Amino acid sequence: MQILQNKKIVLGITGGIAAYKTPELVRRLKDKGADVRVVMTEGAKAFITPLTLQAVSANSVSDSLLDTQAELAMGHIELAKWADLILIAPATADTIARISNGMANDLLTTICLATSAPIAIAPAMNQQMWHAQVTQENITRLSNRQVNIFGPGSGEQACGDIGMGRMLDVSELVELTCQFFSKNKTPDVQKAQQKLIEQPCIGQHWVITAGPTREAIDPVRYISNHSSGKMGYAIAAAALQAGAKVTLISGPVTISPPENCDLIQVESAQNMHEKALEHGKNATVFVACAAVADYRVANIAEQKIKKSAETMQLNLIKNPDIVADVAALTNKPFTVGFAAETQDIEHYALGKLKRKNLDMIAANNVAIAGQGFNSENNALTVFYTDGKVEIPLASKQNVAQRLVSLIQQTYLKQVN
Ligand code: C5P
Repeated sequence: MQILQNKKIVLGITGGIAAYKTPELVRRLKDKGADVRVVMTEGAKAFITPLTLQAVSANSVSDSLLDTQAELAMGHIELAKWADLILIAPATADTIARISNGMANDLLTTICLATSAPIAIAPAMNQQMWHAQVTQENITRLSNRQVNIFGPGSGEQACGDIGMGRMLDVSELVELTCQFFSKNKTPDVQKAQQKLIEQPCIGQHWVITAGPTREAIDPVRYISNHSSGKMGYAIAAAALQAGAKVTLISGPVTISPPENCDLIQVESAQNMHEKALEHGKNATVFVACAAVADYRVANIAEQKIKKSAETMQLNLIKNPDIVADVAALTNKPFTVGFAAETQDIEHYALGKLKRKNLDMIAANNVAIAGQGFNSENNALTVFYTDGKVEIPLASKQNVAQRLVSLIQQTYLKQVN
C-alpha cells in the first residue's frame, strides 16, 4: 500500500515565489496515494494559476470565501472537516502572522480556524523576514499549538540574499508529510529533524578570536588598538544560535560574552596564539576576528619606565600570525580570516587568503565612517573558492548571522 493512500490533504498555497514549485508537490503527493485539494490565497494566484493546480490535482481549486458556487460544491467548513492534514506551502510571513493570530479573513485562514485536523506549514520568505522577531514569535506560538513547522531551509534566495527562509525542496516536503502520517515516526523524531533544520551547526565546534590584544611596554603601559570585539562576539552568538559549540578567545573588551559560550580571556598576541592552537586543533571551524597586534615590545620593562629623555625608542618584534598557524595545522579546521583594509580591498584580501592558506576571508573597509572598528554596523565582502559574496551594511548581529550561514554552507560543501 502507498504510504499516503487514502490520506486527504488540503494544500494551502500562499503568495510567495516558491508557489511555482507547488504543481510538482501536488504530483509527488498524489504519486504516494494522497487525495489533494488546493486552496489558494489571492497572492498565490499572482505566481501560479488555479487552472494548473486543478489539472495536476484533478480536483477543483478553492480560492474564495465568498463564492456561492464554490461554497455549494464544497464549502469551507466541509473542506476543514474533510482534511486529514492541512499543509501550507509556501507559507508567507503574512499568512503565518494571520494564522498565529487566529484571523479568518480569507478562505485558507478560515479553514485553519475551522479545522480539527493537524496543520503543517512550510515557511518561505526572505531571510531578514524570517529572522524578524515578530516572525519568530509567531512561529513559536504556532509550534506551541502543535502546528508542524517544515523548514525553512537555508541558501541563496530569489532576492539574492543568503540565509534561512527558503521553502524546503519538494522531495523534503513529501518526505516530512509521509513521516507525519507514518505510525513509526514519533513526534520526537520529527522534532529532532526540525531542530537540525533550524540549527544546522549542531555537532560542530567553532573557535573564534575576538577583540584587540594588549602588548605590554612596562607593568602599567601597553600597545593596543580600537577593536571593540563586537563583530567577533556577534559571530559567536550567531554560531551558538545555529547550534554550534563555541569557544571564544577574547582580548580585553568591555562587552559581555553570549551565554553558553566557552570564554577564554587573553591579553597578548602570544597568549591568544597559544590558546588558538590548543583549541583550534579540535575545531571544525576557526574564525579569526581578533585585531591582533602585529608587533610586541622586545624587552618588557620590569619596572615602570621613568620619564627622562625628550625622545625614547621601543624595540618591537613581530608577533606570530595566529590564523596562519591554525591554517597550517595537520587537521586544519575550516579557517576564516578577516581583512580590515583602508584601500585596494580585493587585492589585499585575496593576497591574505592565499598567503595564510585560508578557506575564506571577510574583508571590510575600515576607512568608511560608521562601519568596522568600534561601530555598531558593518559591511563585508567575503572571498572564497566559489567566488565572492557581498554582505551589505547592517547591524553586526545581522552581518554575523549571514556570515555564519555562508561559512556553514561552504564548510559542509567542503566536507561532503
Ligand atoms: O595580516 P592581517 O593582520 O591584516 O590579517 C588579518 C587577519 O589575520 C585577521 O583574521 C586576524 O585576526 C588575523 N591575524 C592573526 N594573527 C596575527 C595577525 C593577524 O590571527 N598576528
